[in-house]
Amino acid sequence: MSEAVEIRVRPLTFEVEQGAGGLWNPRRPELSHTLNAFQLALPYLEPYFIDAIRGGAEHVADPKLKAEVLAFCAQEANHSRQHKRYCRLLQRRYPRLKEFETSIQQSLVRSRQTDPLEWRLAYTAGYEAITAQLSRWMLRNADDWFEGADPHFAALMKWHAAEELEHRHVAYDVLRAVSTSYGLRAKGLFGAMKKTLADIVPVVTYMLEVDGYSARLDSKARRLKLRLQFSLELLPAVRRYLMPGYNPAHDRSPPQLAEWLSQPEHMVAAASVDPNLDSSSDALAAEV
Ligand SMILES: [Fe+2]
Ligand SMILES: [Fe+2]
Repeated sequence: MSEAVEIRVRPLTFEVEQGAGGLWNPRRPELSHTLNAFQLALPYLEPYFIDAIRGGAEHVADPKLKAEVLAFCAQEANHSRQHKRYCRLLQRRYPRLKEFETSIQQSLVRSRQTDPLEWRLAYTAGYEAITAQLSRWMLRNADDWFEGADPHFAALMKWHAAEELEHRHVAYDVLRAVSTSYGLRAKGLFGAMKKTLADIVPVVTYMLEVDGYSARLDSKARRLKLRLQFSLELLPAVRRYLMPGYNPAHDRSPPQLAEWLSQPEHMVAAASVDPNLDSSSDALAAEV
């Protein structure tokens, strides 16, 4: 059964400059930098997704899905802006992040120039499935992860997770409108997983090094445990994604999503509504 969740575009802005600027939970440096590293690619990936989804939407006939594509693009455009502001802040303390960012950006530029639309959509749908599962994981553990943590970062993460769950089926449905190839869909998922890991691991290592954790045995043990938890969390989602009749709209969301969605926008901690924020995705899609 699919959960009827409306895709809402919320023009929120997060005062990340008032926050920790890296180690958002000093009790959990490995988790802090894993989520930081995950965000590093998003200012480039989200416009890449917008571009692929727009290309695919030309093959979509269903008016409901067409409307969802517009909402997807507007949400991802706002995400990208907020993640970019956060990543700029990170660069003050971790200057080598610029190199990692440039390499991610260049690989996405190459993909846009050389990979066919079908592949870019399969990659986007695969990445969106990973993000949706991470969002479930985060919302379920939010009280623990964000207890005593930087409230600006926590608010940004919860907003992103909620909207990722709202639009979790859109990329997959657009891919299906363009290609129903099972092999392509599976390759897109594994391609996204491989690239995500390749992008994240060296960034986490670098950030922990800057903060003086990389040689500590307790940190190594916590990092190993986190990797194991991450793999165990991802495994059922991968299995579902590979089932022949898979439909992401049928994936259940944790109760914490409904709690977050029931809050009025101005009550979302540490966030404010920006009346000037343009929800269009045109400019962003052209950036990468
Ligand atoms: Fe996003
Ligand atoms: Fe997304």
